[in-house]
Amino acid sequence: MTFRIAPSILSADFARLGEEVRAVAAAGADLIHFDVMDNHYVPNLTVGPLVCAALRPHVKIPLDVHLMVEPVDRLIPEFAKAGADIITFHPEASRHVDRTIALIKEQGCKAGLVLNPASPVSYLDHTLEKLDLVLLMSVNPGFGGQQFIASVLPKIAEVRRRISATGKPIWLEVDGGVKTDNIAEIARAGADTFVAGSAIFGAKDYAATIREMRERLAVL
Ligand code: DX5
Ligand code: ZN
Repeated sequence: MTFRIAPSILSADFARLGEEVRAVAAAGADLIHFDVMDNHYVPNLTVGPLVCAALRPHVKIPLDVHLMVEPVDRLIPEFAKAGADIITFHPEASRHVDRTIALIKEQGCKAGLVLNPASPVSYLDHTLEKLDLVLLMSVNPGFGGQQFIASVLPKIAEVRRRISATGKPIWLEVDGGVKTDNIAEIARAGADTFVAGSAIFGAKDYAATIREMRERLAVL
């Protein structure tokens, strides 16, 4: 199993974002998780394609763009142009989920569906084979620093079973409340990609935190 750590810039210092993404990349991050919020789909407002394009030259690792916006489609070509490698969206925020997935792929990006804690796994019934990743929210979207919702663990296991049944290398990413002390449990449930905002950017030493996460994963 390959594990990936994706620091979420939501908890970074927004006055020094370029420096912050370079610092987590140097600290061993596998992806940069980029949270896009619109004060409509979620009750918070963050950044758009302009900031994504501004950060792109600062790091070589993939940019994992998590769209918490409604509607979704119009922003996809803009984020692709801005250098996004992965684009994920919430099915409730798109009128035509299959079309949105196709649009992301046409733009040359990896596509993922994001399921909120109360969103049913049945959203994957007719989509999973077309996806490059599934992102399971382990908090309600909108804010960093929230508590991991433990009832998502069996859901992670269920999605892992579905992914295994496809035989495809679809990533299973988990977002919200991931810390050094619960990352192993989340991995045991079946996740391979871990978003961590406050756990990494809230720590003094980014490299030590990412190293500790990898150590907890290595003993599985
Ligand atoms: C929440 C965002 C998360 C957030 C996670 O809506 O999607 O990516 O940054 O923050 P932590 O890791 O602090 O829970
Ligand atoms: Zn996110």
